[in-house]
Amino acid sequence: GKVTYVAVDGTRHTIELADGENVMRGALYNEIDGIIGECGGGLACATCHCYVDETWADRLGQPATREESELLEAASAPRRPTSRLSCQIVMAPEFDGLVVHLPETQY
Ligand code: FES
Repeated sequence: GKVTYVAVDGTRHTIELADGENVMRGALYNEIDGIIGECGGGLACATCHCYVDETWADRLGQPATREESELLEAASAPRRPTSRLSCQIVMAPEFDGLVVHLPETQY
């Protein structure tokens, strides 16, 4: 499905992400700045922090697990209710058209 990444300056990049692939890798594969993904999706770094767009917040605004929630506390940019670790958002048919916002910093 399609994923749109919105940079801090408002620049939008839309990519095609295969089902089963996560939103962190989608950014890396497409050389989108703003997602680092240092630990490779291992739920150990928080450098894949993103903000889920308000229009998707009901479906994706809450961390899926306590581990993710704890790591989000360590994210460099302020945590918001819509904060997620993008490596934990896995593309599925129902998420086609997802929009995420990139934080100001990952370090
Ligand atoms: Fe490290 Fe997501 S890439 S927690």
